[in-house]
Amino acid sequence: MSQPEKPRLRSQLWFDDPQHADMTALYVERFMNYGLTREELQSGRPIIGIAQTGSDLAPCNRHHLQLAERVKAGIRDAGGIPMEFPVHPLAEQSRRPTAALDRNLAYLGLVEILHGFPLDGVVLTTGCDKTTPACLMAAATTDLPAIVLSGGPMLDGHHKGELVGSGTVIWHARKLLASDAIDYEDFMEMTTASSPSIGHCNTMGTALSMNSLAEALGMSLPGCASIPAPYRERGQMAYTTGKRICEMVWEDLRPSKIMTHEAFENAITVASALGASSNCPPHLIAIARHMGLELSLDDWQRVGEKVPLLANCMPAGQYLGEGFHRAGGVPAVLHELTKAGKIHPQCMTVSGRTIGNIAEQSQNHNPDVIHTYDEPLKHNAGFIVLSGNFFDSAIMKMSVVGDAFRKAYLSSPGEENTFEARAIVFDGPEDYHARIDDPALEIDEHCILVIRGAGTVGYPGSAEVVNMAPPASLIKQGIDELPCLGDGRQSGTSASPSILNMSPEAAVGGGLALLQTGDRLSIDLNQRKVNVLLDEETLAQRRAEWTPQMPPSQTPWQTLYRDLVGQLSTGGCLEPATLHLNVIARSGGA
Ligand code: FES
Ligand code: MG
Repeated sequence: MSQPEKPRLRSQLWFDDPQHADMTALYVERFMNYGLTREELQSGRPIIGIAQTGSDLAPCNRHHLQLAERVKAGIRDAGGIPMEFPVHPLAEQSRRPTAALDRNLAYLGLVEILHGFPLDGVVLTTGCDKTTPACLMAAATTDLPAIVLSGGPMLDGHHKGELVGSGTVIWHARKLLASDAIDYEDFMEMTTASSPSIGHCNTMGTALSMNSLAEALGMSLPGCASIPAPYRERGQMAYTTGKRICEMVWEDLRPSKIMTHEAFENAITVASALGASSNCPPHLIAIARHMGLELSLDDWQRVGEKVPLLANCMPAGQYLGEGFHRAGGVPAVLHELTKAGKIHPQCMTVSGRTIGNIAEQSQNHNPDVIHTYDEPLKHNAGFIVLSGNFFDSAIMKMSVVGDAFRKAYLSSPGEENTFEARAIVFDGPEDYHARIDDPALEIDEHCILVIRGAGTVGYPGSAEVVNMAPPASLIKQGIDELPCLGDGRQSGTSASPSILNMSPEAAVGGGLALLQTGDRLSIDLNQRKVNVLLDEETLAQRRAEWTPQMPPSQTPWQTLYRDLVGQLSTGGCLEPATLHLNVIARSGGA
């Protein structure tokens, strides 16, 4: 029996087009100069890109350079031809002024590559925080068959017999240092112990959260997110991922068939159950918008707020990536959520199986690490969305609002979840560091630390700075946490119960710009309101006197970025880019 003829692939428009022999010759000849043959290039086999995010400048993803060899083996064994190419480096821990500035730059670059080169599908190598959203945003905009390969978390960190998680330990250790409990050497030893191997952050910070949400969206193979980077399973997952993308090309399984609105709702549900990073709302909203879907902070609150915390991982819990993986990782979380009827089971995934099927076939191997839905770590663990008389929206991650915070700030009888505080206002992280220990500020336990000038426009990209430590004098008295509020973000590894991502930000004239140290704020978490206790007249007068203040752009990209970027509440997207949907199909596939 003769095989049905395979459809012509996009890459053949470059490599095998007898109607345009001169162009085909040009395209083919140069790829032969490193050893590819004409037979390979004209055989009608899928050409698969490997979007390489690893490099010496991107340590969290650097091992993708080795993993790519296993991906290539998988692609070859499935009859494809791999072509690896670099993505602009995205490095959370070292990029100044902010790594967030690069998410949209890497996205733009990747869109151009996927659109402009002879690729039939792509393996997206993800890991460090911004790599996952940047890659998924580009997959959304192009709608080229795409599959995520996470690099995996580092092994668990240990220090003096205790688990220490990347990022999370720094927030803890800097308080010890500020109160002279440890010295600089102890500080360095303790914090670097959290990074014992290759891989991305081992806490449920932005990296592990976003890779988990990629899996929950259906964009990676089951179990991909949590396999620690050095485990043998990671190389095996790379091989299987390479094989699978070739099949996806023949199945024409594109991001638009996977990343549906319901898939995003699944991801929001999983985010709450994981105690996921406060960076997930803007990233997921950005991916959805590039897919042409409307996803808003209201969806986060509607779908996610009441979902309980199941994953016992730092910063909301105790364990790290290895423990999470051994308990069953994302499929085990999906298993618990699906049993409780909280997942849209029919959503398709890159595996060709529905998410419901994956959930059903999975098991929870350790209910101490992944709790059951009926016995969660915490109820109502999603994000809440706040508003007030000086801003439109801000988020708060309820999975990290712990007993200590509740006791200190939310315990007035009959008025649970309400408190008033005196604002101490800082203009950006430099100002905070310069003045936090200034006794003239008279900071006490009835204060709220406020930071502005840290949003997408103000500190281009938006800075992870809202989780501010109290002054050393207070920490020495045992008060190591104050409520914080600001137009920046905070690290996903932080357990600080802050009010974040305030939009509109001060730099574009948001009401946060009008606050002054000494103003009183009233915070009501039940009503989701934060108001400044000033009359309209005072606010109007301050507005009349306000002049925009912003540090100058240091590079051409910062200028372009500031001109085009939106607020964190709508994903911090380059707004004109959200208008270009499905760009490959719109240009006839070529
Ligand atoms: Fe790269 Fe955390 S700094 S993953
Ligand atoms: Mg971060």
